[in-house]
Amino acid sequence: MIRAEHISKSIPVGNKTEYILRDISFGLEKDTITAIVGKSGCGKSTLLSILSGIDEPSAGKVYLNKNDYYALDRRGQEKFRNENIGILFQNYHLIPELTCEENIRMPLVFSNKKIENGRVKKMMKSVGLEKQRRLYPKQMSGGEQQRTAIVRALINKPAILYADEPTGALDSETGNSVIKFLVQCAHSQGLTVLLVTHDMSIANQCDKIIKMENGKIVQ
Ligand SMILES: Nc1ncnc2c1ncn2[C@@H]1O[C@H](COP(=O)(O)OP(=O)(O)OP(=O)(O)O)[C@@H](O)[C@H]1O
Ligand SMILES: [Mg+2]
Repeated sequence: MIRAEHISKSIPVGNKTEYILRDISFGLEKDTITAIVGKSGCGKSTLLSILSGIDEPSAGKVYLNKNDYYALDRRGQEKFRNENIGILFQNYHLIPELTCEENIRMPLVFSNKKIENGRVKKMMKSVGLEKQRRLYPKQMSGGEQQRTAIVRALINKPAILYADEPTGALDSETGNSVIKFLVQCAHSQGLTVLLVTHDMSIANQCDKIIKMENGKIVQ
């Protein structure tokens, strides 16, 4: 489902080139959840944004569902992203002027994908957000906001979900319930999940762990 081949990312610093990522290759199967772990600054978020299709690598290829993603033209990339990729951030990125349910419905406005009647309600129920549907982000707890962001990321039935420290702002119990939900989505909904975490108890609940150091995969 996801295949990274010899990904490098470099930036010019003065008259030298500095590598943020160096020759990264791996593949991830459908129905699996994988954690990327590693020290602050080792390149985890950079790798995630390259795989998410928002930051082109300096070298190497990203295959998403067998498409050579960065070989697609701009419109092709946009279409692929809208239809196949969900993204979850540490700080939720909800729109403050919209309610819980309106935030969740946002991606549907930009998509031609058909979803079944009642999907919004059903998904909100599955993460316990029925009572929150009319609340604005500032009226919700951190866990409720993150669950809203999860449902928003999944409402369009993406094939891939990327999450950058999705539990970073949550207490460990709430964080655990969020991970349990993601594991369940991966295993039962044909979803490939790739998340970044600092927390080994979160990483250990995933099917696979990728360890990074200084822009490289070490394990
Ligand atoms: N656009 C950029 N220009 C210069 N340096 C950058 C740029 N983007 C990232 N870096 C550097 O690349 C390195 C990796 O950054 P990245 O955000 O991927 O780390 P990370 O592993 O996600 O760290 P954290 O765990 O703290 O979030 C850092 O040293 C960062 O300063
Ligand atoms: Mg990061």
